Amino acid sequence: QTGFTTLDQGFVNTASTKSAITYIDGDAGILRYRGYPIEAVAKNSTYLEVAWLLIYGEIPSESELSAFDDRIRRHTLLHEDLRRFFDALPHNAHPMSVLSSAVSALSTYYEGSLSVKDPEQIEMSIVRLLAKLPVIAAYAHKKSLGQAFLYPDNSLSFVDNFLKLNFGTMAEPYEVNPVLSKALDRLLILHEDHEQNASTSTVRLVGSTEANIFASVSAGINALYGPLHGGANEAVLKMLREIKESGDGVSKFVDRVKNKEEGVRLMGFGHRVYKNFDPRATLVKESADEVLEALGVQDDLLDIAKELEAVALADDYFAERKLYPNVDFYTGVIYKAMGFPPRMFTPLFAIGRLPGWIAHWREMNLDPATKIGRPQQLYIGEPERTWPER
Ligand code: SDX
Repeated sequence: QTGFTTLDQGFVNTASTKSAITYIDGDAGILRYRGYPIEAVAKNSTYLEVAWLLIYGEIPSESELSAFDDRIRRHTLLHEDLRRFFDALPHNAHPMSVLSSAVSALSTYYEGSLSVKDPEQIEMSIVRLLAKLPVIAAYAHKKSLGQAFLYPDNSLSFVDNFLKLNFGTMAEPYEVNPVLSKALDRLLILHEDHEQNASTSTVRLVGSTEANIFASVSAGINALYGPLHGGANEAVLKMLREIKESGDGVSKFVDRVKNKEEGVRLMGFGHRVYKNFDPRATLVKESADEVLEALGVQDDLLDIAKELEAVALADDYFAERKLYPNVDFYTGVIYKAMGFPPRMFTPLFAIGRLPGWIAHWREMNLDPATKIGRPQQLYIGEPERTWPER
């Protein structure tokens, strides 16, 4: 099944990908995970329950979910040699580089994981990825702080264990804040899948060559790193800080965006598919106020973000280009209030998106009709010519 897209240069036959996992209607601002609207999923579910739904297609039974949760808890430990991998890194290594390198290295510890046809091995790799990516991300955070790594605590839930690994220390007991835990679980749900975005398409393309799931996810992490994609949440906070420090105010910044000053974009705005509103941005904005209030955090960057959104939405320049806030516009302010440094924002997106990447890799891998990916090209180079006599 192929779709046709008209480009300036004429018709290009773009092979479209078939998938049953996520549905988006960009004009209507609709997002559904396996048919369930994102608003209902975010309100009623948890990250692990949604991960099962995306990967296996149905809401898990209580026993399925508790067995899944159990298996993940029992696979949180990294191989001790992989823990030592962090010693070789500079303290200021960007966590996204750490994540893609460590995830790619994971396959070297599990010989069987290189098989892409053995269902048992695939299920084992899925559990290991879900269990270990948060630990790798937390260790990248601790490395940047020069603090000792904690071992995972399997008595805690997925999100609580992740929070303790990031904010707990060897010096004193760590008490999880339930507000923080629930807010983070909800934010992770909002990132779990998003159809054929750049990083998921990367995972599918790499996976279509029968590369193992760790190699495919590592490639997806690298695609997500870019500031036009997952890296946007870190870029939004940098933009808000620059507006604050410049003292020029929001309107002056908006003028710079409209004048297309070199590289100045309204980060966290715009989307390839949503040309109206991103339903996730609406949900994130709602929780921004709740979370900051519950954590007793006052942050004028949130006020600047709200003013920036209001000024942009009232300006024809953005309306004409169908530019609205996307999922990344408010998440950074919340992550900052939770205590994460900006460099940890995109790793949080990666942990959120991991179940989607896994679901797409598995869907493609289980489909006997899958062929190696080969994106179409429209040749716009020189016609045939003769090599000059010399
Ligand atoms: C994510 O695909 C997904 O689903 C991704 C994602 C997911 O869940 O996986 O939703 C997550 O990546 C969200 C997007 C995060 N990125 C950003 O916030 C970065 C800032 N946004 C952009 O750079 C941009 O909007 C994109 C990359 C998101 C989308 O780019 P498009 O649709 O290709 O738009 P374009 O570059 O063709 O721009 C169209 C016009 C241009 O102006 P003109 O040349 O017509 O005058 O809109 C302008 C652009 O200059 N424009 C912007 C802008 N985004 C587009 N102008 C200012 N600020 C922006 N953010």
